[in-house]
Amino acid sequence: MSKKLRIAFIGAGGIAGTHAKHYSEMPDVELVGASDVSEKALGKFQEQYKIPQVFDDWKKLLKTTRPDAVSVCTPNFLHCQPTLDALNSGAHVLCEKPLAMNAAEGRKMLAAAKKNRKQLVIAFQFRFDGKTQALRKAYDEGFFGKALYVRVKAIRRRGIPNWGVFGRKDLQGGGPLIDIGVHALEMAHYTVGAPQPLAATGHTWTFLGNKPSAVLSQWPNWDWKTYTVEDMAVGTIRTKGGTVFHIESAFVSHTDQEGMDFYIFGEKGGAQWSNANLFHDHAGLMLNSNPAWLPRYDAFQHKMRHFVDVCLGKRKSEAPAEHGLMVQQMLDGIYESAKKGREVTIK
Ligand SMILES: NC(=O)c1ccc[n+]([C@@H]2O[C@H](COP(=O)([O-])OP(=O)(O)OC[C@H]3O[C@@H](n4cnc5c(N)ncnc54)[C@H](O)[C@@H]3O)[C@@H](O)[C@H]2O)c1
Repeated sequence: MSKKLRIAFIGAGGIAGTHAKHYSEMPDVELVGASDVSEKALGKFQEQYKIPQVFDDWKKLLKTTRPDAVSVCTPNFLHCQPTLDALNSGAHVLCEKPLAMNAAEGRKMLAAAKKNRKQLVIAFQFRFDGKTQALRKAYDEGFFGKALYVRVKAIRRRGIPNWGVFGRKDLQGGGPLIDIGVHALEMAHYTVGAPQPLAATGHTWTFLGNKPSAVLSQWPNWDWKTYTVEDMAVGTIRTKGGTVFHIESAFVSHTDQEGMDFYIFGEKGGAQWSNANLFHDHAGLMLNSNPAWLPRYDAFQHKMRHFVDVCLGKRKSEAPAEHGLMVQQMLDGIYESAKKGREVTIK
């Protein structure tokens, strides 16, 4: 067998475990090291995934282990610098979502990948979901005609994470929009051909997360004292070619319409992602159709295999940093518009 891809981790918390679990099942991958500032997280990770060398500093990790590829699994404020350092050390990078805190950081990351001729892949798994792939195929085959409007949602009724730093705007860049809205937005954007965003309007509200609450919920006792992100965000994005996206995203909302979904309204047809329903006119009838068969596989596992194959030169990236940057521009635009109270141009 040819040489194995030697992979290291920056950040050894929750999502790093999911990366490591899937890498561990691949015969062409070798896990060579990890870094984290938490001794506890690092110890647990090392033991569970049999990591030979661990470090409290990612620079030491990169210098000592010289990995071929790195999974960047740190909080959002630590996506940019570790990615730059890993790319400059000669490694490919799989960076967790979102690409960065903002598009300005993202541009530096893209430039470093280009300069070093390395792959920078964004860890967007929902584009590898069977339903997303089916709708993308329908889009490519012209089923929708022109995609006029794409309605996207990532809504929780009471779902403020009570771990990590997800309530800290300075460390995460924002709340539900950048944390869970990004998942729904990236797959919807990918499905209709990843058009360049041009302008955004947005609104954000914080009305509950920054106060103590005794209401029964799945994740109680979040750190309300340090909570500085929005509870809910909505935004509209105009894109080149005319497709308009609208996103609703919430950690907190008084609704029974929870969940992640998107809807395509096209000139010739439409669709709903969550049930892969397709809507069109045929034989003088308005029809609702549904694929009789869809591949069933773990999208996360697929994203990890995709990254390894991209690093080994076996396939072209389906989750390139350019897509991560456009999604980031949409998020930035919505936040900026919400602050300024008017539509903003996306440069
Ligand atoms: N793709 C997905 O479905 C998905 C799911 C969850 C989280 N994420 C993303 O993954 C990232 C991490 O989230 P998480 O849930 O794993 O958080 P986490 O808090 O469980 O893990 C983050 C880890 O980074 C470590 N860290 C902090 N500073 C560090 C430093 N200087 N050097 C090395 N390690 C450092 C922390 O100690 C922690 O162990 C976030 O960007 C999040 O958006 C993606």
